[in-house]
Amino acid sequence: MQSRAPQIVARLYAAARGASENAYAPYSGASVGACVLDGEGNVHSGCNVESASYGLTQCAERNALAAAINAGVRPGEIRALLVYARGFDVLAPCGACRQVMSELLAPDALVVSCLSESDYSSWRVTDLLPHPFQLSHPTREEDQ
Ligand code: THU
Repeated sequence: MQSRAPQIVARLYAAARGASENAYAPYSGASVGACVLDGEGNVHSGCNVESASYGLTQCAERNALAAAINAGVRPGEIRALLVYARGFDVLAPCGACRQVMSELLAPDALVVSCLSESDYSSWRVTDLLPHPFQLSHPTREEDQ
């Protein structure tokens, strides 16, 4: 099967790069932008937002996903996510973002990480996190 990555790059690269211009990253110096494509073809963007209390830092991917949800997009309706990172070699999304992606992206959605418009890597979201955490009710007697 032909990869959909080139189409996704054509649609989302400029927007993700633009979003990275808004990054607040005085501690790491790494400006990251991300965009997601919803089922109607609309694009939702986010950048990373750091904090002097480092652990409170918010990644660009999760901020883009939150923007989509805030705009009314529902879990499973997101077809692609593209992340652009200035100052990284390759940005494979962090584990926290993979968990949130696995909950909100369509199961066959593609995640693309771009260094430039012609230099990128892509993964299916299910390959990035094969066994995501899922809430389920206890089935063992001793847990009830
Ligand atoms: N960052 C992201 O925005 N996305 C990722 O997937 C990993 C890291 C940000 C967080 C922090 O502001 C900077 O990159 C360095 O870790």
